[in-house]
Amino acid sequence: MGPEDLEKVLRMLPPGEERREILVGLDTPDDAAVFMLDGDTALVHTLDFFTPIVDDPYLFGQIAAANALSDIYAMGGTPLSAMNIVCFPCSLGMDILASILAGGLSKISEAGAALLGGHTVDDEEPKFGLAVTGRVHPDRIMTSLGAEPGDVLVLTKPLGTGILATALKGDFLTEAEMAEAIAGMARLNSTASRAAVLAGAHACTDVTGFGLAGHLSNMLPDHGPGCEIHFSRLPVYEHVREMAGMGMVPAGAYKNRDFLMSRVEVAPEIDDVERDLIFDPQTSGGLLVALPPHGMEVFRQQMGGEDGWRQIGRLVEDTSPLIQVLP
Ligand code: CO
Ligand code: CO
Ligand code: CO
Repeated sequence: MGPEDLEKVLRMLPPGEERREILVGLDTPDDAAVFMLDGDTALVHTLDFFTPIVDDPYLFGQIAAANALSDIYAMGGTPLSAMNIVCFPCSLGMDILASILAGGLSKISEAGAALLGGHTVDDEEPKFGLAVTGRVHPDRIMTSLGAEPGDVLVLTKPLGTGILATALKGDFLTEAEMAEAIAGMARLNSTASRAAVLAGAHACTDVTGFGLAGHLSNMLPDHGPGCEIHFSRLPVYEHVREMAGMGMVPAGAYKNRDFLMSRVEVAPEIDDVERDLIFDPQTSGGLLVALPPHGMEVFRQQMGGEDGWRQIGRLVEDTSPLIQVLP
């Protein structure tokens, strides 16, 4: 669902419950919720599932699980347990379903969490994902809000998975040619999350369906700081520019662009094809982190050998529109 439709539906619901245990609930743009048990412990809850983005069932399972676990990491949490959410046409064969679940389980185990169960529905199109519960100390929750002018913006995975998935569906690209992005989507955001927490991040979110610009916009309330990002510094997966040039841009990118246009100014040097990249919906994208400059050293150390992360811009006092995309 596009950001505009989702906002409409959420406005139709009664306001979220006021309970002091709800530290992060319906009224913030975060994808996970945080419920406090006591002064030292809060639970992080999230769920996410979608249709296959690649043909290989095991890899699809890995990507869907990494994507669902990511919202726990974005809050600075540690995954504890997961439940499978499965929609599957029985005609497709149980070995395919078994491979999807095995892929998912490999990521749940890598995250140190336990698979506790799940629920399966017969459906024409396969869908898979997880409901995940994690824990976090109530004083160390990261949310999408809290970035300050002067903060450095980092992005911990390359962009372009929506464009690549569109090209794969249209047979303009093989799964082998997409290997770099598949490995990236299957990678957990665990190292990035720990690095962000230890570096004293002011704000953090993960980049998924609303694209880089959409999730950046969620970090910037109307009267808060703005940001400048440098297009040339954006990490991008292999073949993305080429596929975007061939028009392999998903409809979701245009929905995101139309919704966000008033908040984003793109320098004229950046052409339309390149511009689509910042609106491209991501699957299992990286963390977008606002760090105080003095936290960069710790962040860099913690990220160690992890490739693909970049410092993409910074928060500034006043800009209009709020997001300035510079060459
Ligand atoms: Co999500
Ligand atoms: Co998210
Ligand atoms: Co059930």
